[in-house]
Amino acid sequence: MAGKFITLEGGEGVGKTTNIQFIKEYLQQHKIPVVVTREPGGTPIAEILREILLARHEETISGHTELLLMFAARSQHLSEVIWPHLIDGTWVLCDRFTDATYAYQGGGRKIDIDEISCLENLVQGDFRPDLTLLLDAPVEVGLTRAEARNELDRFESEKLEFFQSVREIYLTRARQNPGRIKVIQADQALEQVQQQIIEQLEQIVDDNGQ
Ligand code: TMP
Repeated sequence: MAGKFITLEGGEGVGKTTNIQFIKEYLQQHKIPVVVTREPGGTPIAEILREILLARHEETISGHTELLLMFAARSQHLSEVIWPHLIDGTWVLCDRFTDATYAYQGGGRKIDIDEISCLENLVQGDFRPDLTLLLDAPVEVGLTRAEARNELDRFESEKLEFFQSVREIYLTRARQNPGRIKVIQADQALEQVQQQIIEQLEQIVDDNGQ
């Protein structure tokens, strides 16, 4: 792949939207062509799957249905958007990717990690992000922000324990993949959060010879 694939992860209300814009501008200042996208979503069909996943339905969505829809959306997103751009040399900046599946479906919904890993290999082969920035903050801080912002979606309406498990799995994965996943302390002033992000970006931009 000629471009780099950077993903942004974290629980609810940790500031992904503000910081993804910041990262995009940083890369553009370094003359790197970049597209911003998100999961679940990023293509018209994947966005329809996102609507199904986030809406609150009378019918319960089973854990496996949720898991398979996440990977269905991802498969579409990879073939239509992510891979074509990376092959062309455009960097792809993605708001959530498969680490979110481990955290939410594995941690939150308690789906077996081996099942997730099996689907990851099926859909992605050995493709993984080049860099993942994990915005980490205490669960209560993020949830308060998310609650103030809009009507809660199907995930945001979950209980505190759900988000504690999500956070735990994210941090466990960061410990297991220290080369790829960098933890950013997100419960600080925006300037300090962005300073930590720059430190991580400097490295990948330098490695790329920009
Ligand atoms: P967003 O609000 O950050 O756009 O994400 C939408 C929701 O989807 C969020 O609550 C996390 C959830 N999600 C999963 O449960 N599994 C996944 O694999 C992804 C990508 C997102």
